[in-house]
Amino acid sequence: MSLVEPFDYFHSSRTLPIALSGITIQSKTYESSASLVYRGFREEDSQAIVIKLLKENYPSPQELTRYRQEYTITRSLDVEGVIRTYSQEDYQRTLVILLEDFGGESLEYWIQQCRDSFCPMPVSNFLRLAIAITEILGRIHTAGVIHKDINPGNIVFNPNTSVVKIIDFGIATQFNRTSSTFKSPHVLEGTLAYLSPEQTGRMNRAIDYHTNFYSLGVTFYELLTGQVPFLTTDVLELVHCHLARPPIPPRELNPQIPKPVSDIILKLMAKNAEDRYQSAWGIKADLANCADQLKTSGQINSF
Ligand SMILES: Nc1ncnc2c1ncn2[C@@H]1O[C@H](COP(=O)(O)OP(=O)(O)OP(=O)(O)O)[C@@H](O)[C@H]1O
Ligand SMILES: [Mg+2]
Repeated sequence: MSLVEPFDYFHSSRTLPIALSGITIQSKTYESSASLVYRGFREEDSQAIVIKLLKENYPSPQELTRYRQEYTITRSLDVEGVIRTYSQEDYQRTLVILLEDFGGESLEYWIQQCRDSFCPMPVSNFLRLAIAITEILGRIHTAGVIHKDINPGNIVFNPNTSVVKIIDFGIATQFNRTSSTFKSPHVLEGTLAYLSPEQTGRMNRAIDYHTNFYSLGVTFYELLTGQVPFLTTDVLELVHCHLARPPIPPRELNPQIPKPVSDIILKLMAKNAEDRYQSAWGIKADLANCADQLKTSGQINSF
């Protein structure tokens, strides 16, 4: 047992720091009502790790299931670009998951950095990152898994190594297992600002891998413009926006964005799943076409 000294920012519902056998905890990365995420290392081999803890002392069965499912699905995915897991452990009456730490921070963090420095991401950097994320999504789909919660908080990037990985498979499902039914806004699964129309449960349409393309489109939109397409935080209004309101084209918010790139994002965000791309490889091909044009001619024309 290693006893960890309390941090001064330890103001969560847990008043004591967690003490895990053989693990030293160094810093807190994230805290929500449900989860705590720390960085630390394994004492036996000094391996850097991320520790994700289900926070409440008495977590609900649903939360325990989400964590168990996250661990099972992440572990089953032997896919480059999916975060590795080391183990899942009982911790008192709750659970911890030990994950790979490759020195990255979430895109949510990087987007905030860009906002703070008033420096939007250059299109060439965006294209490189977007292609890498799309490739990983393609591999995840090929492995038969729908992530269902693609957003900048669930994509981790290390700019020093250019490595990008997808995390947080807490609500992911295997293909053909999911159908969408009407759900009250209180039980919407996913992250509201990135939620596809069909994932709102109001389209009477089964959810398939196309849902990830919509959320990917919203993520790309935010990377390039610094804001999500629908800014309201009112749940019903946001659901309505996803279902019915066309987004302002990214290019109108940031004229630096070439039209073909703006169009790719709008196609990803099509209201009808059939109107989005049919596969991640199609998205990648269009993004790669843009990247090639930018490299050879310094601009991107329509294709
Ligand atoms: N392996 C990792 N490397 C770097 N940062 C990570 C890693 N895992 C998680 N994080 C950080 O912790 C945050 C939350 O992790 P994660 O998305 O897995 O939790 P969550 O399931 O969304 O939490 P909640 O219970 O609040 O829904 C991420 O947005 C990221 O900033
Ligand atoms: Mg998350």
